Amino acid sequence: MCGIVGVLARRPAAPLILAALKRLEYRGYDSAGVATLDEGGAMRRLRAPGKLDALVAAHDAAPLPGTTGMGHTRWATHGAPTEVNAHPHRVGAVAVVHNGIIENFRELRGELVADGAVFESETDTEVVAQLCAREMRRGLGPTDAAAATLKRLRGAFALCFLFEGATNLLVCARRGPPLAIGYGDGEMFVGSDALALAPLTTRIAYLEDGDWAAVTRDGAHVFDERGQPVVRAVRNVAVEPGSVDKGGHRHFMAKEIHEQPATAAAAVAQYVSPGRDRVLSPAASLDWAGLERVTLVACGTAFYACQVAKWWFETVARLPAEIDVASEFRYREPPLPARGAAVFVSQSGETADTLAALRYARSQNQTILTAVNVETSSMAREADVVLPLYAGPEIGVASTKAFTGQLIALAATAILAARARGAVDAAEEARLVSALCAAPAALADAISREADAARVAAEIARARDVLYLGRGPMHALAMEGALKLKELTYIHAEGYPAGELKHGPIALVDERTPVIVLAPTGPLSEKTLSNMHEVMARKGRVALISDAAGCAAAGEGVWRMLEAPAADPFIAPIVYAAPVQLLAYHAAVARGTDVDQPRNLAKSVTVE
Ligand code: F6R
Repeated sequence: MCGIVGVLARRPAAPLILAALKRLEYRGYDSAGVATLDEGGAMRRLRAPGKLDALVAAHDAAPLPGTTGMGHTRWATHGAPTEVNAHPHRVGAVAVVHNGIIENFRELRGELVADGAVFESETDTEVVAQLCAREMRRGLGPTDAAAATLKRLRGAFALCFLFEGATNLLVCARRGPPLAIGYGDGEMFVGSDALALAPLTTRIAYLEDGDWAAVTRDGAHVFDERGQPVVRAVRNVAVEPGSVDKGGHRHFMAKEIHEQPATAAAAVAQYVSPGRDRVLSPAASLDWAGLERVTLVACGTAFYACQVAKWWFETVARLPAEIDVASEFRYREPPLPARGAAVFVSQSGETADTLAALRYARSQNQTILTAVNVETSSMAREADVVLPLYAGPEIGVASTKAFTGQLIALAATAILAARARGAVDAAEEARLVSALCAAPAALADAISREADAARVAAEIARARDVLYLGRGPMHALAMEGALKLKELTYIHAEGYPAGELKHGPIALVDERTPVIVLAPTGPLSEKTLSNMHEVMARKGRVALISDAAGCAAAGEGVWRMLEAPAADPFIAPIVYAAPVQLLAYHAAVARGTDVDQPRNLAKSVTVE
């Protein structure tokens, strides 16, 4: 996690660095720091715990001079989010910013301490600066010292080095987390992603895994993991520089919830034929009929998209689907079918565990598909087939429009598989496609009922624990609702399959615990409503989310009803994303928590 930026400019560097850090804050916001070299090459550094604003205020009070520098926004891995643990870490003439984990830092630290080094922080990063400074004391120049240092490191990291006295040099390295080099006009940049560099340049070269580079204002000399000079293509990356604003909303999350009818429509337009009767998908080249099963892997919200997709692949396409969270999958190293297909689902395309799981599947000769929002991401680059989400930049840490984008991409792919496997005929495909085409308008309808969600949310906000129940794909939505609530409000919440309740969790039900029941009219709604009545019989306070028919069927005694639009059961998981997002959002607003940047989290989880 953590965001890195480096600047070799022809104008003051610090303001450029701070603006780029703002665009990288989604990667962590525990502390931030910046270091620059003044005209004479003397290094100056500012660091501040907490959000970037604290660093900006410190910089306003005492601006840093110079046109060369680098900055960092941190998600703490080793050491508390204090100023002394904030990056850049400086030892002697060298300063380092780092994203990732140096796995052998204890061993290295021991070696350096035995050699007389005095550490000031608890971080793993400081060993990098200490090692490099020692190499320089032993007589190596900056670039060679950095190269020698890299050889000693184990782990997954992106690094940038700045050297006192070297106003025309940054050394950067990638082993795992992504790193981009930006080419400007007589200026050069380094950044964790193209979004950070977007206002500075759109001409980007991505370092490959194991690469390191010596960057000057004239260009970059890139070396691969064996130290061989290599050329990494400079591409024009279309990132909208102005995309990071709230568009009149109070929070990015609110904006992103409200964007869903438009982003869903953009996705549907790509995944459906102009005649709106067939799906189109970049996955059409796969031999779906020949597949024994499909594997779907992701983390967090994206995993719940996989859980819904399992339902679609199995019920609609009659294709067995295995799902797993990436952090378990990657170490279980499960046997995978010969010539199988595996789908990796991710907003960022950089989640470390999902990327590692993808690489494991690649090693098992699977065809790799990725449903990913950031089309320049590592996952997109490493996949055989990319299923884009068309959601646009998602800034709020809690995923919203990327989730509905993932569902649409996966729903279309499940229909495609169904057609290829002969599980649906043309008429049934047309019916499913027509249902999918209705999803954007149904989402708009669901979002237009925001005031009702806000009213219920104000009451949920006072709870200590909340349960979410659903069956079939609504179980996945129950999990997603609980995840959203806990990450945004810090209220304890759990999602359960409604039928599983009486096997234990019903013991939690009392008059204080709201139980949110997701029950759109469909094949499972009666079963879910029976489970709901079991809760009510035990004085549980039920908030039912259902359509008009479902609310009418619920009978007396439901504590709160949240009416959702009627929807074909096939797309209900897409439509019900809106009420669960709105409930969590408004509960967070009612509690006054930090909606867009909840505590302890980061948007892009690039460490395992
Ligand atoms: C929750 C949330 C996270 C992400 C997860 C995976 O609201 O956003 O659970 O879904 O960290 O991230 P991506 O999709 O970038 O792989």
